[in-house]
Amino acid sequence: MPHIKFKNFSITDFKPDRFRATEVLFIANDSTLRSTMVGVKLKGVEFLLELKRDRRGSWILKYDKVTRPLDVNLLKEAIGDIADGLNLDIIYSNIRLSKVPIANSAEKSIESFENIKFPYDKLSIEVGFGSGKHILYQADHNRDELFIGIEIHTPSAQQLLRQIELKGIDNIWVVNYDARLLLEMLSSNIADRLFVHFPVPWDKKPHRRVISPQFLKEAMRVLKVGGRLELRTDSPKYFWYSLETFLGEGVEQSELLIRKNVDLDVISKYEARWRRESRDIYDISIISREESPERDIEIDFTFNSLRFNSKLIDNPPKGSHIFDGFFISLKKIYIVNKSSILLKLSFGSFDKPEQKYIFIDRDRSYYFGMEPIKSYTNYKAHMAIEEMLNV
Ligand SMILES: C[S@@+](CC[C@H](N)C(=O)[O-])C[C@H]1O[C@@H](n2cnc3c(N)ncnc32)[C@H](O)[C@@H]1O
Repeated sequence: MPHIKFKNFSITDFKPDRFRATEVLFIANDSTLRSTMVGVKLKGVEFLLELKRDRRGSWILKYDKVTRPLDVNLLKEAIGDIADGLNLDIIYSNIRLSKVPIANSAEKSIESFENIKFPYDKLSIEVGFGSGKHILYQADHNRDELFIGIEIHTPSAQQLLRQIELKGIDNIWVVNYDARLLLEMLSSNIADRLFVHFPVPWDKKPHRRVISPQFLKEAMRVLKVGGRLELRTDSPKYFWYSLETFLGEGVEQSELLIRKNVDLDVISKYEARWRRESRDIYDISIISREESPERDIEIDFTFNSLRFNSKLIDNPPKGSHIFDGFFISLKKIYIVNKSSILLKLSFGSFDKPEQKYIFIDRDRSYYFGMEPIKSYTNYKAHMAIEEMLNV
């Protein structure tokens, strides 16, 4: 990931300003002064860069995992603009702009799904596409259908975006987020197929699995009547776990198709590996047979009354605060100046928490970079955050 290393730098001379196309909005220090967050805006996108000093006294300016934009060139450009503007004494850099730019029109942010119009009647979604081999094959062979690929691993999402650019494919959208949260953003009865191929089994941490009763509920809501969720796995444990979930207590009716060692038209990277090891491969498809009601969700993540109060710095809420179905944990406080702070929080449901930054000054407070996903759990957490921080 892009970063630069430099020496002979005085942090006190670094002030918010415009550095070529990059606007530095604020500079926020944590109490130990070991980490500094730089709030930047470039081409309309807000994100953070982290500034750190290492043991030998040199400095590093790098991306922040929570707010980083998918387009790695944006990160490189912002770091480059600041480096040039401050005339930094650079000792290492890996910010040369990529030759193949990321196909921006294929990249979709999770929030854009709120009121999105789909360009085709047919829609398939692939969860955790990894190398992208399956989604690229499907999109190439079904040009009148839209394919949404959702992948939590950023380098895989970037790799697929480059493939899309190189191959000139225009019916794939790529989302770099947790798939369990994307489904909650989508309208009901819109998808024909939902592929979950070779999900991580998480045998020791089953709460991290993609398939769960909640995921199944959202998947069945999002699927059209006749649409199907297709799970393919080499893990017998995951297979039996999914079968149990698909026939479980909360499921009134279900129609399943189960197969073992049946070939698909395309072999993904993971499947190729398991085949070399002669592992059995299981498929379970669950078919949606009912029209689902539209989700009614009026959610607004504005903070109505949360404003800067120095008590938040002197006496911050500590540890994890557990509520009914969600939690809130304040991870870090960064001081911007005498009357503004940046908070890093983790919150939401226990199995798919969100990490976000909140900027607070005397006049306003807002989620810096990106708002949380519009789920009821996040909304309840948001209201509780406002109450908890209003000290
Ligand atoms: C074992 S790989 C399989 C990749 C691909 N489907 C294949 O068959 O080659 C699992 C993929 O799921 C992704 N993944 C895991 N949890 C996810 C989640 N909650 N949302 C989106 N992607 C996820 C991982 O990053 C990884 O790329």
